[in-house]
Amino acid sequence: MTKVLFVCLGNICRSPLAEAIFDHKCKLKRLTEISSDSAGTGAYHMGNQPDPRTIQVARENNIYIHHKARQFREEDCTEFDYIFAMDESNYENIIATIGYKPDHLLLLRKFEFNSSQNDDFNVPDPYYGGDDGFKDIFDMMSISIENFIEAKLK
Ligand code: 4NP
Repeated sequence: MTKVLFVCLGNICRSPLAEAIFDHKCKLKRLTEISSDSAGTGAYHMGNQPDPRTIQVARENNIYIHHKARQFREEDCTEFDYIFAMDESNYENIIATIGYKPDHLLLLRKFEFNSSQNDDFNVPDPYYGGDDGFKDIFDMMSISIENFIEAKLK
């Protein structure tokens, strides 16, 4: 079993969407023996459903999200084989929680191989923006998740 965790700040916008995209792709590719989860480094939205804009953009892509926000915890480091931070701030917060930088902690957009000129590896936080921001992060995360699955899970 390969276990994959996606982490953002609130666990209501980016990481539950990444988790749902990942599950959807694994199902389409008939990959088994894989499990996923998502978490937030902050505790503000614990127990909450994903943001309505996250649910909406997923639904527009025939993806249905079932998740309740939870906070990232130290034990996640040993439980998961891959931990994907959505941005550099999440990445640093994870390191602060664990106390060191584990080898399996990665920035999701490092898998965006095609954009060789890319020097911004952040999935931007869409919370305070409009609906377009959610469409943008959906496309952005889909590319990296696709590349990750093809490179590491097939
Ligand atoms: P997320 O977005 O980290 O992608 O879930 C956010 C959600 C809520 C807040 C910040 C970011 N907030 O400040 O409440």
